[in-house]
Amino acid sequence: AAAEKGGYDTFMEKEIHEQPQAVNDTLLGRTNEVGALELDELRISEEQLRAVDRITIVACGTAAYAGMVAKYAIEHWTRIPVEVSLAHEFRYCDPIVDDRTLVVSISQSGETMDTLMAVKHARELGALTISVCNTHGSTIPRESDAVLYTHAGPEVAVASTKAFLAQITACYVLGLYLAQLKGQSYAQDAKAVMAQLQQVPDRITELLGDLDRVREIARFMADTRSVLFLGRHVGFPVALEGALKLKELAYIHAEGFAAGELKHGPIALIEPGQPVFIVVPGPDTPHGLHGKVVSNIQEIRARGARTLVIAEDGDDAVVPFADEVIRVPRTAPLLQPLLTVVPLQVFALELATAKGLDVDQPRNLAKSVTVE
Ligand code: G6P
Repeated sequence: AAAEKGGYDTFMEKEIHEQPQAVNDTLLGRTNEVGALELDELRISEEQLRAVDRITIVACGTAAYAGMVAKYAIEHWTRIPVEVSLAHEFRYCDPIVDDRTLVVSISQSGETMDTLMAVKHARELGALTISVCNTHGSTIPRESDAVLYTHAGPEVAVASTKAFLAQITACYVLGLYLAQLKGQSYAQDAKAVMAQLQQVPDRITELLGDLDRVREIARFMADTRSVLFLGRHVGFPVALEGALKLKELAYIHAEGFAAGELKHGPIALIEPGQPVFIVVPGPDTPHGLHGKVVSNIQEIRARGARTLVIAEDGDDAVVPFADEVIRVPRTAPLLQPLLTVVPLQVFALELATAKGLDVDQPRNLAKSVTVE
C-alpha cells in the first residue's frame, strides 16, 4: 500500500501533489501546431456547437464547484449564458432545455447516479450532452453525445482534489473551443488564454513547495469548531470548495460565502477569534474587485476575526489586515482558482491529520454515490 501511495502517507497527499500533472495532461494534445484548439474527440459537429445558445452544467459536490468556476470563464469568453445546476435539482425544476442547449455534465467517477439521471433527462428533452469525466468506460460518458476526458489519472481519496483542477481545466478548454468556433476575435483570445493555462502546472508546483506555513496553521487549529471562507467572482466557488474539504475531512463546521454577501448577513457571525479564510482576487482583476475584498478583510478584522488571507505574490495591500498571508503565484484572474484552492486542500488535509482522522476515507462518505 505504501508503494501505491508513491511515498506519501495518504492518497490524498499524493493526489494533491499530482495536480500539476493533472492540469498538464488535461491540456495535452488539445491544441494544434499553431496553438488553436482541436477537439476532434468531441464527435459533435461544429455546426451543432455553433448553434448552441445556452449551456447548463450539471454536477454534484466538488464537480459542481468546478462548474461554478467554469461558468464565469465560459460566459466571459463565449457570451453564451451558462447556468450551473446541482444534478439532483435539475430534473425536478422543469428545466428550460431544447436542441440548442448544451448540457455539460461534470463527474470524476462517471457513475454518480444523480448526475447520470440529469444527463438522461437532458437528452430526453433534446439537449446536446457533453460529459466531462475522469473515468474511461464509465456510464455517464456512454450515455452522453460526447465526452471530454479529464486526464487526472485515478483518484482514490474520497475527497476530490486533482480531479477538481482537471475539471476546471477541461471546462476551460471546452469554453475556449466554443469561443474559437465563434470566429477570429474570439480565437485570438482563446490562444492567449491557452498559453497562460500552459504555465499553470509550473505555478502549482512552485506553490506546493511553499505550503509549510499553511500546514503549521492547520496543526495549531486542530481544536477549531468553525471556519468561514470568503471569495468573490471565481474565488467564490473556491471558498465553497475550501469549506467542503474541511467538512468532509475534518468534520468541522465550515461555510463559504460570496464576499459581497457578507454585509447582508454572514458578518453577524463574526466574533473575536473567528477564523476566516479570504480568497483575494489578483490586483489586476477587473472592476476593482481586489479593493472590495481587501475592504471586506478590514471589516471583519475590525470585528475581531482571525484573517487567513490567500493572496497573490506581491499583493501588499492585504498585509495590514491579515493575521496570516498565504501566498500564491501570480496568474490571470480567471485562472486563479487552479492555484488558490491548493492551500485550502492542504489546510483541510493537515487539520484532519492533526485530529487523527482517516483522510482518505472520511466517515459517511463514498467516492462515488451510485444511488439517488
Ligand atoms: C461524492 C464524493 C465527492 C464528489 C461527488 C461527485 O459525493 O464524495 O467528493 O465530488 O460525489 O462525484 P463525481 O464522481 O460525480 O465527480
